[in-house]
Amino acid sequence: MKRKRLEAAADYLREKAGGELDCAIVLGSGFGAVLRERIDGTTVSYKKIEGMPTPTVAGHAGEAHIGTLHGRRVVAFSGRFHLYEGRATGDVIYPVVAAAHAGAKTFVLTNAAGGVNQDYRPGDLMLIADHMNLTGTSPLIGATLPGARGRFVDMADAYAPHLRELARHMASEYGIVLHDGVYAGLVGPAYETPAEARYLRMIGADAVGMSTVLETIAARALDRDVVGFSLITNVHGNGSSTSHDEVLDAAARSAENVARMIEGIVANS
Ligand code: HPA
Repeated sequence: MKRKRLEAAADYLREKAGGELDCAIVLGSGFGAVLRERIDGTTVSYKKIEGMPTPTVAGHAGEAHIGTLHGRRVVAFSGRFHLYEGRATGDVIYPVVAAAHAGAKTFVLTNAAGGVNQDYRPGDLMLIADHMNLTGTSPLIGATLPGARGRFVDMADAYAPHLRELARHMASEYGIVLHDGVYAGLVGPAYETPAEARYLRMIGADAVGMSTVLETIAARALDRDVVGFSLITNVHGNGSSTSHDEVLDAAARSAENVARMIEGIVANS
């Protein structure tokens, strides 16, 4: 990752936000619009941000909402990059690393995920308690990330306990059902076979998706706090099949709850 490009991207984010960022948010499949009206600022195309790749997946817009939310300077990335697009890990984590260089201390990562926990229902929200990186790769392979603490990164409490506590508190206050579960990150883009879903359940996963884990690793390498939310769009083992339209539908239905959780985290972190 080129430090110069990263600094140019960070300068741009700071300029648009009116100073050092406090918080960065990554909006997963179907969540694109949830913060647009709430952030007091501007929306820019990824093309304006130095070094930023451009997304190719439906439901991933490729724009950043930059400004203030509850008095905090934020960027919300609408659209992310995935390994299954053939992207390098450096592309996948670029938004996170650029926001970290612009000062962001707290990262709210959201995604759409399949439930493997049989108690989950489509439309449920899961707070990520921990993850399993089953992608077979890492953004920390090769040259160390600009600004990284070192080669080996502690992944205990990767999802900040104080932010998880805050999320649980808000959920009970707002009457939102919030599961606490383990997210397994896979390459995709084929959804899991029944055998794979059973395997994931057996090794302790509650939900499965194709994003987030590499972003969390990058953020932790840069010593940033992470909180993650998975919207359960489908559940494996209930006899139904999985489609991308179903994923986008469920995301649209729960967008309001997700927006409230994100707002609460930003306001209180
Ligand atoms: N598997 C992987 N990723 C997903 C799923 C799933 O079932 N649903 C939404 N994203």
